This record gives sequence, C-alpha cells and structure tokens, in this order.
Amino acid sequence: MKIVERISDLSPPGERRRVLVPTMGALHAGHISLVRLARESAGRDGEVVVTIFVNPLQFEPGSDFERYPRPEAADEAACRAEGVDLIFRPQPNELYCSDRSTFVEETSLSKRLCGASRPGHFRGVTTVVTKLFHLLAPDAAVFGEKDFQQLAIVRRMVRDLNFPIEILAGPTVREPDGLALSSRNQYLSAAERRQAPVIRAALLEAARSPEDSAERVLTLVRQKIESAPLARIDYAEIVGADDLQPRLTIAPRTLLAVAIFFGRTRLIDNILLG
Ligand code: PAF
Repeated sequence: MKIVERISDLSPPGERRRVLVPTMGALHAGHISLVRLARESAGRDGEVVVTIFVNPLQFEPGSDFERYPRPEAADEAACRAEGVDLIFRPQPNELYCSDRSTFVEETSLSKRLCGASRPGHFRGVTTVVTKLFHLLAPDAAVFGEKDFQQLAIVRRMVRDLNFPIEILAGPTVREPDGLALSSRNQYLSAAERRQAPVIRAALLEAARSPEDSAERVLTLVRQKIESAPLARIDYAEIVGADDLQPRLTIAPRTLLAVAIFFGRTRLIDNILLG
C-alpha cells in the first residue's frame, strides 16, 4: 500500500479501474464497508484509493475542526487490512493556497437541511471533492447514504459539471442498538451515548406509521426524540429523496432526515418512507 502526501507524488490512474473512497479519516466500520464496495467495483485487478483529509473548508467557524479525531496509524492499519492500494493524505496547505478564491458551489440541494444549519459546509465539500476528482481521476467514487444530502449534492455536481465518474452509494452501518456509525459518536458522553439510539427509534416509528401526512409523522418523530432528555432537535424534515424539497404527504421516495444535538455533538440520520 502506497501512502502519498504530496500532489507531485501522485501517479495517473493508468489502465486499471480506479475507485475512490473520500474520507476525513477516523475510519470505522462504516468507512470499511465503503472500501469493500470500492473493491467490489474495482475488481481484484483494479485500484482502490482512500483519501484522508480533514477538510477545513467544510467546518464552520467555531465547529470541531481542531478536535476532529486524526488517528493516523489506526487508519493506515485499517486500509492495509482491507487491501487498499493507495492512501492520499495531504496536509491542508498542500491542497489549498492561502489566497484561494475559487470554489465549487451547488446552489439548490445544498440550501436546506444541513445546509441551512451549516452555511458554507457543502461549498467546502463540493470544492474538495472536485479537487480530489481532478487529482485522482477515478472511474468511480463511493459515498455513504448516512450523508444522504451530501450524496445527492455530489451526484448533482457530477451531472452538472460532466465529471466522467460513476457515483456509488453505500448503505448506513449501525451499532447493534441502531445508532448510525459516525466518527463524531466518540464525542458523546456515556449518558448521551445511552440516549442516542432514540434517533433510529424515531425514524423506525415514522417508517412504520400508517399516517400519510408529513406534518403528523413529524409530530411523532419530534415527540419520540424529545422523550430523550439530552436530545435537542436541530431539524426534522420530510423531503423528496431526489430534489430534497419539502413534501406534505408521504409517497414513494420520500425521505425523513434529522439532525440531533447531544450536547455539542450533532448527529444526522435518515430513512426512506413510503
Ligand atoms: O463525508 C466526508 O467524510 C466528507 O464530507 C468528504 C466527502 C470526505 C469530503 O471532505
């Protein structure tokens, strides 16, 4: 496995199918499932590339950029164990010039949900993903469905900017109690961790509900989440899974998406309804 930190040390993809898994490191079983999907898509003779980059551009001022976990050795070992061919792990000053003035911005899907609570976040994501696509020229790239909005925005960007890259989606991986795996779960206190599965419980209750009014389903969701004293709702919304615009009734490809704070830790999750 090759580890590259400098852009000038990257080699062009060549003839092998190259599949990219962009990450911010702190790899957990959710990332590993994306790496396995990448290997499946690349084939035995193909190349799986993992990028590890805590992207300063997608962290709002005052958020957790500084304290975001960076367990380099453990990430390397996890990639090695999965047969990853290349890790690209640049430092911020390798990817960004201090006087940068060019960004890539999706202007519709990125406005609601996490985009409303984290202004500038998705511009940071689309800018870095574009740079990684240019630098590594993969045939395909894998993103997790837990970050459903990010996945929709990347797909839109690839369509709108004609990137010749196939976007693959990996299902959310969960703890046995239903909590979606996230590098941020490690910030939770023991009491917060005990209450955090309420998120999945609320999503499942909504999916089982015979109600077809989005407002009534959202009332159920809010009541369930508020039953956990340490949970604070950032948003709970029902939107179309493709355009991410609000829906009044539950129909096929309707998405329930939530962001919930436990203390300073913000967790997101989603489920398809209908
Ligand atoms: O999902 C993430 O970990 C990040 O948003 C990504 C796609 C690696 C871009 O920094």
